[in-house]
Amino acid sequence: MPPRTLITGHILSFDHSPFEAGDPTDAARLHEALLIEEGRITALGTAQALHAQAPDAARTDMGNHLITAGFVDAHVHYPQTAIIASWGKRLIDWLNTYTFPEEMRLSDPAYAADIAGRYLDLTLAHGTTTCASFCTIHPASVTAFFEAAQARGLRAVAGKTCMDRNAPEGLRDTAQSAYDDSKQLLQTWHGVDRLSYAITPRFSPTSTPDQLAALGALWSEYPDCLMQTHLSEQTDEVAWVKSLYPEARDYLDTYDSHGLLGARGLYGHAIHLDARERDRLREVGAALIHCPTSNTFIGSGLFNLAARIAEGQRIGLATDTGGGSSFSMLRTMAAAYEIGQLTGTALHPAQLLWLATAGSAQALHMGSKIGNIAPGMEADLVALDLASTPAIAQRSARADDLWEALFPTLMMGDDRAIAGVWVAGKAV
Ligand code: GUN
Ligand code: ZN
Repeated sequence: MPPRTLITGHILSFDHSPFEAGDPTDAARLHEALLIEEGRITALGTAQALHAQAPDAARTDMGNHLITAGFVDAHVHYPQTAIIASWGKRLIDWLNTYTFPEEMRLSDPAYAADIAGRYLDLTLAHGTTTCASFCTIHPASVTAFFEAAQARGLRAVAGKTCMDRNAPEGLRDTAQSAYDDSKQLLQTWHGVDRLSYAITPRFSPTSTPDQLAALGALWSEYPDCLMQTHLSEQTDEVAWVKSLYPEARDYLDTYDSHGLLGARGLYGHAIHLDARERDRLREVGAALIHCPTSNTFIGSGLFNLAARIAEGQRIGLATDTGGGSSFSMLRTMAAAYEIGQLTGTALHPAQLLWLATAGSAQALHMGSKIGNIAPGMEADLVALDLASTPAIAQRSARADDLWEALFPTLMMGDDRAIAGVWVAGKAV
């Protein structure tokens, strides 16, 4: 019999989305113990029952810590790790001043490997067990990321960022080379171990119509791949897209008309949408990826999450490192809560936690594998210390229930709150 692991603590799973009608707390359930075998969760139950079922299992007791699925970050740029928290710019200036010069440095495969490893170690320390990352235009930056994720046993999504205009010399490919390099990388990595490829046009301003069409054609050849890009993040960007694509009905149409809109499409930000775009996104079942720390940090605007959920959109949550100002999905949940308050809805802690786990996993079409704790799911887990600092401890000590005890950690927690991380059942 293969080795088994039995973990005890306060284990939280979701039966359904806490955004569904009714009390959000009804969506979640607590368990005493879970059993892991060959990287997967095989049973949930009382400690007594699982001890009896698996007397041979190695035991880990997490005491009062809250164990949830590992966090899923649905939109990041690992190459921007070293320029996170760069001062004073809005999107287009920020790209030109900080981002593009740094992405240029990843032409060196050794530097790309260094940054990929640094990024994954930082995010694991923050409880993130899966991310979907943009790379740079350099194919070796994708190889570096997948190798680093593979070495850590992670489920991960990534793709070569494609740009053939409005980017500096040295950071431009062509329609043909973007197609060829993406295809080669996809054939090498997609479906290997826990890795999947995402076709990745950066955004409409940095691609010619020919490049968008080439990547749309590639997606139609490999429809089980994800496609990730940016959409309507800042109003200046929306105006720029209008001038670059005068024939398009709107920003979304620049993707739609080139074969880049679909259910497996991930659209980062998606703040400034008109009614037609929202209808079309919902109609195809695309995912809108909310990046709240980025939206406040670069000054992009307020994403109305409650309105988007109410109209039936699929939503993921993400840091958008390094436009986002944190590697932490805890800090990201806090920013989502704050933007919710500014747009008229106080998100419940169950809803925040669901977005950072199951919601993002569903956006990545991985909801049956990761993002929740249930028999058959991959054992990517995080244990949260709900009293990780004196400030948090004194507040959670006053709590009357689980959600009140958790909320201070969602609002004020950081990597000190991460008491344990498991990747495919192995403690990190
Ligand atoms: N739009 C196009 N590229 C980027 C990027 O790297 N970060 C953010 N936040 N927005 C973008
Ligand atoms: Zn982004």
